[in-house]
Amino acid sequence: MINEELILEAKKAREHAYAPYSHYRVGAALVTKNGKIYYGCNIENAAYTPSNCAERTAFFKAIYDGEREFEKIAIVGGAEGSDADELCAPCGVCRQVMMEFCNPQKFQIILANGKDKQLQLTLKDLFPYGFGPDNLNK
Ligand code: THU
Repeated sequence: MINEELILEAKKAREHAYAPYSHYRVGAALVTKNGKIYYGCNIENAAYTPSNCAERTAFFKAIYDGEREFEKIAIVGGAEGSDADELCAPCGVCRQVMMEFCNPQKFQIILANGKDKQLQLTLKDLFPYGFGPDNLNK
């Protein structure tokens, strides 16, 4: 799937966000090696810390289904009521979760706003010197 299509899927996922506290809504569309798409949104909580980001929602749904190999993820996020004007980069916890399941040199992270801006990075770009499974399996 081309990036533009995947960004549209992430925008659709954003409509599912549950963000009554931050009013910042995020959607993610994660593509497996076989081309299946998993969708995620942020899911907040009155106790704040149990909140989950859109990226992790997508990953955890995929992992539950037995998926272990991933190609790329598109992320669209921004203030409620806006078109997601700026790019929304994954938080540190989500980068660490990606590190568990993705090859940092190969996995592509596509950040997009609701309009014309987009940026494609590898996990390594966003998470250099990350600690992952390879550190324990050697
Ligand atoms: N959030 C995400 O879902 N993904 C990101 O990449 C950054 C932040 C969520 C967490 C929280 O629900 C809201 O955005 C504001 O931080």
